[in-house]
Amino acid sequence: MTSPLHILLLEDDASDAELIQGLLEAGHIVCEVTRVQTRAEFVAALKDSGIDLILADYKLPSFDGLSALNLAMNERPDLPFIFVSGTLGEEVAIEAVKIGATDYVLKQRLSRLAPSVQRALREARERAERKRVEEALHRSEMYLAEAQRLSHTGSFGWDLATGEIHWSDETYRIFECDPTTRPSVQMVVDRTHPDDRMHVRQVIDRASTEQSGFNTEHRLLMANGAVKYVQVVAHRAAGEDPERALLIGAVTDITERKRAEQERERLRELERELARINRVSMMGELAASLAHEIKQPIAAMMVNAEAGLQWIRHEPPELEEVRRTLSGIINAAKRSASIIDRNRSLYGRGTPQREPIDLNGVIREIVVMLRDTASRNGILIRSELDPALPTTTADRVQLQQVLVNLMLNGIEAMPDGSGELSVASRRTDDGQLLISVSDSGIGFSGENLEQIFAAFFTTKPQGTGMGLSVSRRIIESHGGRLWASANTGRGATFQFTLPDDGSSP
Ligand SMILES: Nc1ncnc2c1ncn2[C@@H]1O[C@H](COP(=O)(O)OP(=O)(O)O)[C@@H](O)[C@H]1O
Ligand SMILES: [Mg+2]
Repeated sequence: MTSPLHILLLEDDASDAELIQGLLEAGHIVCEVTRVQTRAEFVAALKDSGIDLILADYKLPSFDGLSALNLAMNERPDLPFIFVSGTLGEEVAIEAVKIGATDYVLKQRLSRLAPSVQRALREARERAERKRVEEALHRSEMYLAEAQRLSHTGSFGWDLATGEIHWSDETYRIFECDPTTRPSVQMVVDRTHPDDRMHVRQVIDRASTEQSGFNTEHRLLMANGAVKYVQVVAHRAAGEDPERALLIGAVTDITERKRAEQERERLRELERELARINRVSMMGELAASLAHEIKQPIAAMMVNAEAGLQWIRHEPPELEEVRRTLSGIINAAKRSASIIDRNRSLYGRGTPQREPIDLNGVIREIVVMLRDTASRNGILIRSELDPALPTTTADRVQLQQVLVNLMLNGIEAMPDGSGELSVASRRTDDGQLLISVSDSGIGFSGENLEQIFAAFFTTKPQGTGMGLSVSRRIIESHGGRLWASANTGRGATFQFTLPDDGSSP
């Protein structure tokens, strides 16, 4: 058994009190009785949370039962309250029950006491249980409503047999419909964006003819012209009646997610476009140096050809000299072909392609390509390449793009017709490849060293501000890092790492 029943007994007569306790025990009610006689004692005892039941006499020398009942109703409305009295008239009894007494037992018929107490306790337990269940239900409804609001997900039920539809508050909010109206298929269709109506109709028709669930995404057009995206999922619920198909589902407002997705896609598109522009402008830059480089062998061919013509006009023609000028032309032609070959990879394919790359080789090619641009600006390019540099798996064209961006920035930072650009490669202690491009130019004057990597940030009149942002993206997509630092003396240094792919060059 559980702990004994704790009874508060309001009774002035000691022998009656004893009698009552005896009767309860005889009725197998294990109890502990606290007897009080005055109002003050009664009020004090009511504070004891351990009390399970109140038994009260109706007429007391200094206090009366009805006042006690009123007090008890105020303080402890859940406690069963039973009058045990010799004098309770019918009218008073009715009044007492109206106020909230559980029962009354006349002292002349005390045999009713034990059953009355038993019943009162049972009812109190049932009341408490009902209250607990109601509270739990209320709480879970509240949590559910809050969760629906937070997740922008409403729920609905659709009885396919009767056509009756139920919506949760959040569903009403998503559809922006008056919560006092009864939801209907027509309401859903009316709210749907005109372009999606046909699709939604089909989904609804199929669900109702096949009595099956669905999962669909469509737009809503609100009264103020705003467009919302919703995802609607429903499945056939295992109801009590297998003949009656009930669909239960959820409507999620995915507008924000959709917008963010579209925005991300737009940004990705923009980035691709800008990377392309950066590549095109880099190629323009290189085309100038290519043209310049190729002018030399062309000039050599002209000189040889003219000399050859002279030797042929000789009487007799100097064939040995002609042979010499012709092989001079061949050599110059070979030289131009090799210059073009070297540049071809830059203008070639568009799709990225990773392969093991000898980074020193790529650096050497770019140095050659930019040598003329540099010397026209009075700049000397120095390179210090680690011969033991391991290979890295990378896209050759993208790495060329990074090197050209960094080196052109370096050249552009030395506009006064002198300076030095140095490019170095080495292996770091933790086995990565580290490339640095450093110049003796204007350096940074208060620019935030992170902001220069932002797209469109430029301090040049003709700048695009894309070089560093594209370069960083390329390096990071290869698993490396790119950063800038100010030199202790003049100028700036840009460095990037690339992972070693494990093999040697
Ligand atoms: N080597 C450098 N020395 C000083 N500032 C530089 C250097 N490289 C880049 N910057 C700064 O970073 C900015 C952004 O460079 P970048 O993204 O290549 O765009 P752009 O060259 O078109 O300006 C430059 O405008 C310049 O202010
Ligand atoms: Mg640049």
